[in-house]
Amino acid sequence: MKKNVTRKDFLMKTGRAAVGITAVAGLSSLVTTANTQAKTKLTPWPWPYTSLDAEAVRIQAHNFYWNDKDCSSGTFGGIISALATAIGDPWTNLPMEVMLYGRGGGNAWGVLCGCLNGAAALISLVTTKAQSGPLINELWGWYEQAELPTTQANQVAINGQYLVHNFDQDLPQNVSGSPLCHASVTEWCLTANKKVSDVERKERCARVTGDVAAKTVEILNAFFAGTFTSTYVDPASVTACLSCHGSAVFNNVMTKMDCTPCHGDPHNPQAVETIGATASAFKLSQNYPNPFNPSTTIRFSIPQTEKVRLEIYGIQGNLIKSLVDYDLYQQGSYEVVWDGRDNHGNRVSSGIYFAKMKAGKFAQTKKMNLVK
Ligand code: HEC
Ligand code: HEC
Repeated sequence: MKKNVTRKDFLMKTGRAAVGITAVAGLSSLVTTANTQAKTKLTPWPWPYTSLDAEAVRIQAHNFYWNDKDCSSGTFGGIISALATAIGDPWTNLPMEVMLYGRGGGNAWGVLCGCLNGAAALISLVTTKAQSGPLINELWGWYEQAELPTTQANQVAINGQYLVHNFDQDLPQNVSGSPLCHASVTEWCLTANKKVSDVERKERCARVTGDVAAKTVEILNAFFAGTFTSTYVDPASVTACLSCHGSAVFNNVMTKMDCTPCHGDPHNPQAVETIGATASAFKLSQNYPNPFNPSTTIRFSIPQTEKVRLEIYGIQGNLIKSLVDYDLYQQGSYEVVWDGRDNHGNRVSSGIYFAKMKAGKFAQTKKMNLVK
């Protein structure tokens, strides 16, 4: 007759099996952890935080990036491993891999920068809902406006202080104006003339992983020391655009991202004149007059129907004005006047500006000089 395994038998057998496993070196800690976890109470949220060394966390986050944790778990892991050392439980029981999905802006979808995702998860673990909002705004707002990787991140590489040395030289910096992985990485690739697959691009993201981890630690250290003050203010375009599209009026747009890199100013499209119906090549001509004040004319040509973008950037790579905002043009030559105003209608100060044209795979930049 077949003997049924009773619940009691089963428990005894597995119990014995567990004892067997305990004897195997290396696995014992696993079993002990499982046993203690069953007995101990879960640490209530928010979890404990203690002041950390931002520069040590930077180096660890950079290290994790290169050791298969990528950006999101890299930032998150850099901080939780420091907390595990400083505090122990509950940080020792949290796998940094929970944030792996955040890599490449969310499984390579290029949405929210993975570093920002990992950092915000950590902030949400150690603060209440009401506290986390301003801290996350501060971090994401900083990221949107910062030159990345920071000069400090580059300096650590030049000094040979990272643990991974795939590329230790200086790297170009750019201001992406966006918390999106896609905008941040793509703009950097264009600025640096590198491919996504290049070691320099990976090292760039490794340094940004360290930058975001270090900045998060700075913010949290200040917050828990009672010295945090928020410096982030919404970009002027967000305030201006949301004065109609926001909750007070239409209530049909929900974002804190700067509107103008994606939309330009759709209510004040710049007049583009057609000056010729044929063109044999893509071309962005030098503006005239140059130097100029207050306005200057920019000509471009396209040899085939193409969506065109023509934008003015500041010396730090920040978008100033969208003259042509991804609009479809037929073959021909065109000209547009830039009146020396930014997307918010404010006159810009004297200095160097760049006209940047993109049409299909074509991209060209011209340097312009506004004098006053
Ligand atoms: C004075 C109020 C007002 C302000 C300020 C404003 N809008 Fe609008 N916007 C409107 C109205 C009205 C519409 C048309 C309503 C509709 O279609 O729902 C519209 C439509 C749009 C549309 C969709 C239609 C289109 O023309 O492409 C976009 C995109 C848009 N606005 C973006 C912006 C951005 C970006 C800003 C800031 C630079 C902004 N708006 C500022 C009132 C405003
Ligand atoms: C990362 C790019 C991005 C940013 C930043 C952004 N938008 Fe959009 N927005 C889009 C896309 C993409 C759509 C969908 C466009 C479409 O389907 O034509 C859209 C749609 C809209 C629409 C409806 C458009 C329509 O054709 O009716 C409005 C209005 C709008 N956005 C306003 C804003 C405002 C205001 C801001 C800033 C507070 C903003 N957006 C920030 C990308 C962006």
